[in-house]
Amino acid sequence: MDISGKSIVITGGASGIGAALARQAAKAGAKVCIADLNREAAQAIAEQIGGIAVACDVTRERDIIAAIEAAEIAHGPVDIFVSNAGLGRGDPSHAASAPDSDWLLNWNVHVMAHVWAARALLPAMITRGSGHFVNVASAAGLLNQIGDTAYSATKHAAVSFAESLLISHGHEGIGVSVVCPQYVATPLLGLSDGDAQGNLLTAGDVAKSVWQGVADNTFVILPHPDVAKYSALRGADPTRWIKGMQMLRAKALSETGSISVAGFYKLV
Ligand SMILES: NC(=O)c1ccc[n+]([C@@H]2O[C@H](COP(=O)([O-])OP(=O)(O)OC[C@H]3O[C@@H](n4cnc5c(N)ncnc54)[C@H](O)[C@@H]3O)[C@@H](O)[C@H]2O)c1
Repeated sequence: MDISGKSIVITGGASGIGAALARQAAKAGAKVCIADLNREAAQAIAEQIGGIAVACDVTRERDIIAAIEAAEIAHGPVDIFVSNAGLGRGDPSHAASAPDSDWLLNWNVHVMAHVWAARALLPAMITRGSGHFVNVASAAGLLNQIGDTAYSATKHAAVSFAESLLISHGHEGIGVSVVCPQYVATPLLGLSDGDAQGNLLTAGDVAKSVWQGVADNTFVILPHPDVAKYSALRGADPTRWIKGMQMLRAKALSETGSISVAGFYKLV
């Protein structure tokens, strides 16, 4: 889909990858609505790019519906909905140690928010025969994030939901792209653009891959091409792949003394 002139909602657009997506979309001529928990930061970016901002907690279906309504009043029917908001809390001590409240938060932000956006938009998009969902998952949704079980499990669910969306509605003019980056220098990892090097991309690099993927109607967008290789290895020999991940975990422990999610980009 060509994004010029399109009405686009971006959740989590006040920071990191979402903010880069918003900036690049506006530059390409799209009409952007930034929906974020952080209203002030969302407003600041909206002012810079000539878009609108709405306060939105994606763990509440009514907030997602309200963001869509605000975008439609300002910019017309939503052509592209980018479910990008995300968080990472890590495992406090072992793989099942995160409290239920963290599991529920991961589930609502990484999965239900995508479901609620589709539920609100699909009927009108199907009637128009056009619409695109960009669901930002993670390489953890194809592989695994050592040290954050709830993140990995819910990102896998996000990839699965995106598959179901496209299998069920592709023939009705609905496009779906699921974005699976590895490490990106954003506040999620306590990093910023200046930290990016090698395999650690900037949010702008990721946004560029995303909008190219949307233009090409690509289903799985991999800003880090190596993820395709790891994913193929995992599919071909899951037992061997787990052994490799166990070795990576052991390496992290021996080199840093702890499992820090933000430290893995230095090891892979
Ligand atoms: N940074 C990485 O290495 C990386 C890698 C793979 C995938 N991702 C995914 O990319 C997406 C964007 O992450 P980022 O790195 O730009 O992070 P970020 O922390 O820079 O930005 C996340 C944004 O989401 C917003 N947000 C969080 N919870 C929300 C909620 N309940 N409702 C509305 N907004 C909410 C935050 O306010 C923030 O503006 C996430 O889904 C993340 O899982 C990030």
